[in-house]
Amino acid sequence: MADKYTVRVTGQDVDLTVGEDQSVLDAALRANQWLPHSCTQGTCGTCKLKVLCGEVDHRDSPEYTLTTEERDSGLVLACRVTPRSDLVVEPMGAVDDGVPRHPLRDHEGTVVVLDDIAAATRRLVVELDEEMQLNAGQYAELLLPGTTLARQYSMANPPSETRRLEFHIKLIEGGAATEGWIFRSLSVGDRISLRGPLGQFHLVDKTDGPVILIGGGTGLAPLKSIVQHALAEDLAPELYVYHGGRREVDLYDVEFFRELDARHDHVHYRPVLSEQDWDGATGMVTDAVVADFASCKGMSAFLCGPPAMVAAAVKALKRRRMAPKLIFKEEFTVAP
Ligand code: FES
Repeated sequence: MADKYTVRVTGQDVDLTVGEDQSVLDAALRANQWLPHSCTQGTCGTCKLKVLCGEVDHRDSPEYTLTTEERDSGLVLACRVTPRSDLVVEPMGAVDDGVPRHPLRDHEGTVVVLDDIAAATRRLVVELDEEMQLNAGQYAELLLPGTTLARQYSMANPPSETRRLEFHIKLIEGGAATEGWIFRSLSVGDRISLRGPLGQFHLVDKTDGPVILIGGGTGLAPLKSIVQHALAEDLAPELYVYHGGRREVDLYDVEFFRELDARHDHVHYRPVLSEQDWDGATGMVTDAVVADFASCKGMSAFLCGPPAMVAAAVKALKRRRMAPKLIFKEEFTVAP
């Protein structure tokens, strides 16, 4: 039987029980003890902890995220590290920002929708056996049958839909989850295993200023959740939704957002194409945002898409005087 260790997180009054093959982050989130994290894959560095006492196994923590010097100084990645003794660890960032958190859980569900919605893009809807509480913008990990692999996809459903999870999935050439499963053999009626919720990309609090949401490709998914939640809870005075694609066939849920735009005076939807002339906006999606706003002072932004798009959007918004602390981002990392 695998050994279990006790991990004390300074500033939190609960001792975690962590298996020798379990990451400290996984144990913390399952116990509903919040620790900062984003990718859970060892790539972003958001989850760094300082080990004050005890022995650890860094497992596959990459050098580019956790350098040798950082390891030598006692830093670990909570999403990778496993204990080899009882530990005392100290979070590097704030663990209580007042945001409601929901415990990480394993779930089972049934595929009820699997539709082609854009070029090489599918909508997957899973009816869960049990509810998943989540914040708008969070993601889940789908477990690939017959493997130990997991792939991450943001939920597009609002948090009010606790039994029906919607995912937007782009085909990755040679991708084990997409070409090898979701676009090949997965069918309506199949059973699926997943775990969630994960991630700290979210909108839960009321904002005084307008909110700009910029999504590239299937980066629209968490923004769709956020927009629906913001509307249901009246969280933002204005919502500007930008969706970037290369060609018209890359866009999806156009009618859904056009209808929101038509029905709500404070919702503004703008699809932007970078490689096709049409009667809508053209160019890079961030250029369209810059063209639309002389100043973004007092506004906040939610960005989701490929790293290059997110970086360009951050730069553009700062140039338009948006406060960096009001720019929230979720970057796609493509796993084979
Ligand atoms: Fe651990 Fe990203 S490196 S959450």
